[in-house]
Amino acid sequence: MNGNRFGRLFQVTTFGESHGEAMGCTISGCPAGLELSEEDIQRDLDRRKPGQSMITTSRGEPDAVSIKSGVQDGYTTGTPIGLVIENKDARSGKYEPFITAPRPSHGDFTYSAKFGTRNWGGGGRSSARETVNWVAAGAIAKKLLARAGIELKAHVNQIGDVEAPEVSFEELLAHSEENDVRCAHPETAAEMQALIEDYQEEGDSIGGSIYFEVRGVPVGLGAPRFDSLSARLGQAMMAVPATTAFEFGLGTDAAAYSGKERNDDWEFDDDGTPTPVENDHGGIQGGISSGEPIYGEVTLHAPTSIPKPQQTVDWETGEVVDDAQVIGRHDPVLPPRGVPVVESMLALTLVDFLLLSGRLNPDRVDGEPGEYETEYHPSNPRRE
Ligand SMILES: Cc1cc2nc3c(=O)[nH]c(=O)nc-3n(C[C@H](O)[C@H](O)[C@H](O)COP(=O)(O)O)c2cc1C
Repeated sequence: MNGNRFGRLFQVTTFGESHGEAMGCTISGCPAGLELSEEDIQRDLDRRKPGQSMITTSRGEPDAVSIKSGVQDGYTTGTPIGLVIENKDARSGKYEPFITAPRPSHGDFTYSAKFGTRNWGGGGRSSARETVNWVAAGAIAKKLLARAGIELKAHVNQIGDVEAPEVSFEELLAHSEENDVRCAHPETAAEMQALIEDYQEEGDSIGGSIYFEVRGVPVGLGAPRFDSLSARLGQAMMAVPATTAFEFGLGTDAAAYSGKERNDDWEFDDDGTPTPVENDHGGIQGGISSGEPIYGEVTLHAPTSIPKPQQTVDWETGEVVDDAQVIGRHDPVLPPRGVPVVESMLALTLVDFLLLSGRLNPDRVDGEPGEYETEYHPSNPRRE
């Protein structure tokens, strides 16, 4: 079954299972001449990696990325970029009780029913371990976006019933990485942390949501109807494991707004260009970017793997198991590790649209096709 490739021009094809030998991906369609090192990718992988704090799973993965192809002398070559991240700390024993008894609300039953196979170690391909590949590819997309003047950031804006007040983009940039929760509002972050710890102590878990914002997106990205920017962003975000909702602009709050309240009036800016007075539309109108900041929210349910006893059934013995405890190394809450995942899916979606719109040269980041002496071939022995 397919479904392992994301993107049309900036194509990411991923592989790997939670307890397999390695995770990895191929990125085809990255223009040549982008300065790229393993450190550039590692920075974001370290933000997603397990074991980074007391409110993440204690699985001890270094998540060290190795670039296998597509980069020479520190610059992309325009050929497929191959990335591998080895799995170093897989322990399958704790999953044995669930070989023939599906964990409640995980992908165990549906994967088994669909494929007729059971990769029970860590959930196999259904595990969010897969998102390590998305973050690795997303780090490259972010570098391309930065060259185009596009900047994006996300933070955790809700855990359980604790909600953060609105924060500015500058606050997002400055504060969201300052605490373990990844909430840019420090007082709310402390409340969220305490709430997560309460659920953790009870052997339970809790849901939450992630707010994202993008600055510098040009007018005109998106191909209505079915490849509209909102439709493609929806696909990207709904692919994030445990996501139950994606919204942009006012999102579900829009239901309570009248037309007059929600509509953004037009005015001319200093150059005489039509500009919306406000941005309740969230940077997308008619499925096309308006040039205003794109912002929205992604909701993730509570992690399903909890030590609290739950009921399941063993499809081999026919028994009902009413004290199934998913004991192992699991996240008690998902948004803190989900922040780099959401940022990556945003970046991958936007870079694809930039390439499709012709705003990014698909062959090389600088220069024109046909010029064969370029500054990013420093290893050329005949070069002065
Ligand atoms: C970064 C990240 C880490 C996750 N870690 C866990 C985890 O430790 N335990 C768990 O039960 N679910 C975890 N999940 C969610 C599961 O992968 C997800 O619930 C499962 O694959 C079933 O898919 P569904 O919830 O979308 O139906 C994580 C999700 C993300 C985005």
